[in-house]
Amino acid sequence: MDKLLIELENIKKSFNRPVLTNINLSVKNETFLAIVGKSGSGKSTLLNIIGLIECYDSGSYHFNGIRINKYRDYAATRRKNIGFIFQSYNLIPQLTCEENIRLPQIFDNVNDNGRVKSLMNLLDISALANQRITTLSGGEKQRVAIARALVLNPSLILADEPTGNLDPINQDIVFSVLRSEHQNGRAVLIITHDDDIAKMAKCCLTLEGGSLFETT
Ligand SMILES: Nc1ncnc2c1ncn2[C@@H]1O[C@H](COP(=O)(O)OP(=O)(O)OP(=O)(O)O)[C@@H](O)[C@H]1O
Ligand SMILES: [Mg+2]
Repeated sequence: MDKLLIELENIKKSFNRPVLTNINLSVKNETFLAIVGKSGSGKSTLLNIIGLIECYDSGSYHFNGIRINKYRDYAATRRKNIGFIFQSYNLIPQLTCEENIRLPQIFDNVNDNGRVKSLMNLLDISALANQRITTLSGGEKQRVAIARALVLNPSLILADEPTGNLDPINQDIVFSVLRSEHQNGRAVLIITHDDDIAKMAKCCLTLEGGSLFETT
């Protein structure tokens, strides 16, 4: 039987108001899961909790069989296991494209130039290698952020609207990169408003009223 990669039980999270009220979710290693929901429904908040970036208020979260203690820092676990494609990119503006993509390798003492070059090639950003982030278009930033998230071959890819700023050609590029990562055994959890991506997923859930429901 597949081991569970993610197990959330009765997760709650409030800011000024309750956002997540009762999240239950089990994700296996080979999953390709899409989450949809209205703006402000808490999708990014949920992804941040799953990605060990944000704390939950109550409930329990197991990642790879380890119970996540909401008071601990999990930077190393995150770096080794999770590739996070942020909705707002979170690239480092002072660095070039290639430096941004290589950064996780530097933190992890890895030197795999081949992986950096092949991702830049796949995402059609090789020509931008030496360009600073501040000079890029939104869609270019998005593709650099995707390359950076994948550079350490994470077992889990969390993607927060990864095609939000892309034209159809680049949407297709991103689809096929995510599909091939999934075919190589990675779990993909994607937030999207794009029906084509939601259809590509093995399973689609809707976040509404603080809980997840099977999308009908
Ligand atoms: N750090 C924060 N402090 C206060 N409120 C927050 C914080 N982060 C999120 N919220 C609020 O929580 C709610 C859910 O936000 P979230 O970003 O998770 O929504 P979303 O579903 O990702 O929306 P979108 O589709 O627009 O990206 C929103 O009402 C937002 O204002
Ligand atoms: Mg969001």
